Amino acid sequence: MQSLKGRVAVVTGGTSGIGRWIAEGLAARKATTVLVGRSQARTVGVAGEIAQRTGNPEVYPVVVTDLALRSEVARLAGILRERYPRVHVLVHNAGGYFHRREVTSEGLERTFALNVLAPFLLTALLVPRLQESSPARVVMVASEAHRGQDLDLGDLQGDREYRGFRAYGRSKLELILLSREFARRLSDHGVAVNAVHPGFVASGFGRNNGGGIGLGLALLERLFGRSPRKAAEDVVFVATDASLDGVAGKYFVRRSLRPGSTPSSDPDAALRLYEACALASKPFL
Ligand SMILES: NC(=O)c1ccc[n+]([C@@H]2O[C@H](COP(=O)([O-])OP(=O)(O)OC[C@H]3O[C@@H](n4cnc5c(N)ncnc54)[C@H](OP(=O)(O)O)[C@@H]3O)[C@@H](O)[C@H]2O)c1
Repeated sequence: MQSLKGRVAVVTGGTSGIGRWIAEGLAARKATTVLVGRSQARTVGVAGEIAQRTGNPEVYPVVVTDLALRSEVARLAGILRERYPRVHVLVHNAGGYFHRREVTSEGLERTFALNVLAPFLLTALLVPRLQESSPARVVMVASEAHRGQDLDLGDLQGDREYRGFRAYGRSKLELILLSREFARRLSDHGVAVNAVHPGFVASGFGRNNGGGIGLGLALLERLFGRSPRKAAEDVVFVATDASLDGVAGKYFVRRSLRPGSTPSSDPDAALRLYEACALASKPFL
């Protein structure tokens, strides 16, 4: 196993599902592993459990209340900058499916705020740190659900019409576009940004919706989902494997390069989305 000793790796949504195993995979490779979670007890507990299982004492919890809030993303960036002079690996794993439209206390639609704006803002705020840590990698956990979706810059938050599956698919399309735009901006500065689909996974995904949707997703995951641990290994591969040195702006399905949908490969759309996210991130950026 490749050693990441001396390297600092941050994982959002590190307390459950795929993220928990991404964190363990990084810790097992001896990285200083920072687990970002939203429950104090669970984040501290999982960090301790991973430290014990891997024999790596350098597993640290960081607690936020809600990554759908820009103020919390900015606070997280501040904590990371203060505690870690270097950040070599940043995995944007936290994400969710919201069947009904929800609006955060900051007035943003939740799918967009959590799945798109949070990774955008955290990456943007950590750019200097990532550059100082070069070579560094950023991984966006995207999804094949992006296929069949179009970017609608005039309705990023589903104000006109909201449908859960479409909002989710679009958010992952947007995440792939952002990974390409960040890659374009950062590759020459030693920061490689890529996106990965982890497969259909038997995690806790979608359970927050409860009712028929939550139960339906749970059943599908049980029948067809792969293990979160296996899925996580594929994300860790994109985040760390030496064979991918210098590879950026790409989309991976499991461990293979895939083209992604046509809308996910449009550089103009990527640039315009980046600018829209920068605008939506004010005054935090
Ligand atoms: N499952 C799949 O089949 C599948 C397929 C393709 C892509 N993905 C993507 O993979 C990533 C991980 O999903 P998963 O399957 O592991 O789902 P999951 O079991 O629901 O885990 C989601 C993670 O994100 C965290 N999270 C959710 N909302 C948050 C918020 N508002 N603030 C901070 N953290 C938050 C959760 O924290 P808690 O532990 O506190 O709940 C959890 O750690 C997501 O981006 C998802 O879109 C999943």
